[in-house]
Amino acid sequence: GPEVAALVASRVLDVPDFPVPGVLFKDLMPLFADGAVFREVTDRIVAHHGRDSFDVVVGIEARGFVVAAAVAYATGVGVVPVRKAGKLPRAAHSASYALEYGEATLQVHTDAFTAGHRVLVVDDVLATGGTAGATLDLVERAGGTVAGFTVLLELAFLGGRDRLAPRPVHALLTV
Ligand code: PRP
Ligand code: MG
Repeated sequence: GPEVAALVASRVLDVPDFPVPGVLFKDLMPLFADGAVFREVTDRIVAHHGRDSFDVVVGIEARGFVVAAAVAYATGVGVVPVRKAGKLPRAAHSASYALEYGEATLQVHTDAFTAGHRVLVVDDVLATGGTAGATLDLVERAGGTVAGFTVLLELAFLGGRDRLAPRPVHALLTV
């Protein structure tokens, strides 16, 4: 709702020309650093989806890990990390994608999910949707069922929601 959107907006810092000239970086570190706001945001994510609607939470390296751990602790489910290439020690699925700046590959262990487990995917920011699209593909390839995808902040002008369609996106704040 509007209150949580304002709360998120109050804890985002705009950083011009990071990491490269021309990019306006949205820094959510102030939100994570504010215990009351971080807890409220976490509770709103859980309330939106319903605590019985998922069996496990996926966090996307690196900033998504923070959100995922909080949601997992709040609901008593576990976390599965989706990691950048070369970090996972065992057999993994890989998906490459173009980022707003640069290119990257994400991975998840092939045995990360029990078949049919409902997976809530969380991240801090939705920009072009490349990161999220690769992650949702990885979840399905590893045998999970995507139960939802939530971000704290959606940058609508970069078209991520359209790119992920028809898969639904939930954003606490859209700018
Ligand atoms: C940022 C952000 C999202 C992603 C969104 O992560 O945390 O994961 O970009 O961009 P997209 O929708 O265009 O794919 P980044 O890759 O910068 O790494 P980090 O989380 O490790 O900081
Ligand atoms: Mg990220």
